[in-house]
Amino acid sequence: MSAKKKTQEIGKSQKILHNVYLIEKGEKQILATKSRYGSHYGEKKFGEFREWIPSRSKLAAMLLRGYRIDIRPDWKVLYLGAASGTTVSHLADIVEKGVIYAVEYSAKPFTKLIELAEERRNIIPLLEDASKPQRYSGIVEKVDFIYQDIAQKNQVEIFLDNIRMFLKKGGEGLIMVKARSIDSTAEPPEVFEGVLKKLSRRVKVVASDTLEYHRDHIFVHVWG
Ligand SMILES: C[S@@+](CC[C@H](N)C(=O)[O-])C[C@H]1O[C@@H](n2cnc3c(N)ncnc32)[C@H](O)[C@@H]1O
Repeated sequence: MSAKKKTQEIGKSQKILHNVYLIEKGEKQILATKSRYGSHYGEKKFGEFREWIPSRSKLAAMLLRGYRIDIRPDWKVLYLGAASGTTVSHLADIVEKGVIYAVEYSAKPFTKLIELAEERRNIIPLLEDASKPQRYSGIVEKVDFIYQDIAQKNQVEIFLDNIRMFLKKGGEGLIMVKARSIDSTAEPPEVFEGVLKKLSRRVKVVASDTLEYHRDHIFVHVWG
């Protein structure tokens, strides 16, 4: 099949970030990263693109909501709650000249994360507890961006501790907050208000919004 034919099949594409595209596919518009690697979690590959599925990745859901963080190709990233590497794999396509320190404390998904890291040199997997940042302070350097998706009661405190230890001056952070993990009895808007208040005392809250595909979640973008 010629390259031209392939391009026609996936329709027009619009670059929204480094290596991230919105692509017309039939009636739909899908999100994808430009990648020289194969599929990692069953996502479709077409030509040089890997589909980035928003129901599997809160970062994809945020981008499809229209919110952008200009993640640069040389950024150093600390990722807390990497699981098996679904979102890490796409982020690694973006920070192709940078590095991702990917922290996950559960051994089961970590096995798949290691497979991903064996294939890609810009991922450093760490089997560690994000609530004990001093345990990985000998490995993780100062970073440009801290991403957290751990769905824990004290996830805000864990995020702030990691910011204090590892975020460069002028660095950015993004936390995916799950209302029910913080308080299963309170109404989500009430939980979110408390989270934003707590964050505002220590960092600048730039934006926050709900996420489609992930019920009772918000993202919060902060500057350290
Ligand atoms: C919602 S999943 C993450 C999905 C992943 N961010 C993605 O988009 O591909 C949450 C993960 O955080 C991990 N986790 C929860 N608390 C943690 C902690 N204190 N330290 C490290 N990992 C943690 C869980 O084991 C789980 O794999």
